[in-house]
Amino acid sequence: MTFNVTADAYDRFMGRFSEPLAARFAELAQVQAGQRALDVGCGPGGLTAQLVDRLGADAVSAVDPSASFVAAVRVRLPGVDVRSAVAERLPFPDDSFDLALAQLVVHFMADPVSGLSEMTRVTRPGGLVAACVWDHAGGSGPHATFWRAVHDIDPHVRDESELAGAREGHLAELCEAARLTDIEPMSLTVTVRFATLDDWWEPFTLGVGPAGAYVARLDEAQRDCLRSRCVRLLPPPPFEIAASAWCVRARA
Ligand SMILES: C[S@@+](CC[C@H](N)C(=O)[O-])C[C@H]1O[C@@H](n2cnc3c(N)ncnc32)[C@H](O)[C@@H]1O
Repeated sequence: MTFNVTADAYDRFMGRFSEPLAARFAELAQVQAGQRALDVGCGPGGLTAQLVDRLGADAVSAVDPSASFVAAVRVRLPGVDVRSAVAERLPFPDDSFDLALAQLVVHFMADPVSGLSEMTRVTRPGGLVAACVWDHAGGSGPHATFWRAVHDIDPHVRDESELAGAREGHLAELCEAARLTDIEPMSLTVTVRFATLDDWWEPFTLGVGPAGAYVARLDEAQRDCLRSRCVRLLPPPPFEIAASAWCVRARA
């Protein structure tokens, strides 16, 4: 899926979940000073910033196919080697990095096994490859309430649950297929607070990701109906949403 949206729209919709996740994911990846790291599918740079904090900008590279996100990372994180590229064709020689990470990206890759294989190729033997994807299939992703409301209205709409890595164990299967070793499946949960219903709903209207693309296809009456259904399913504001991601840590 393409992300032809501004970094600001992404931050408001997904960044509020992916930034706290990035701090936890960098811990899980055991990032240590002196390493060289690659952030695959960096978006506007939430995880990249965590890597820069730990390693310094000179030791961090990042790729993403979205022109607006690549431009945002160049401005936000000067000194990072950020390039326009997809995981399936990484523009780096073999064994370039000590670790390669993909946060919330495997499910958007056209070919996840080939993307993970490329991450393995550019990581030195014994280096670390890690990935995570929201638990969309288990109903504990950040947009579970949204998709429940969508299905209450139209049970035939395809949500994100069938995407690669979004069900328990699937990331590990993909890593095995990509010939990674010492595969350790794990999970992470983050909690985000919403002050008002509009604080929660308005970002869905920005066209970001599969949920945003779905809302963009609705007319005004359909949007109002969906918003009302969501309001009935959500707790009264202020409320917190917990979101869990399946993670995998493995060796190249
Ligand atoms: C949900 S965002 C995650 C961004 C960032 N990693 C984060 O955690 O906030 C998914 C990102 O994957 C990128 N993407 C989509 N297909 C990709 C591919 N084949 N290879 C690398 N990145 C891809 C998108 O452009 C987008 O920036």
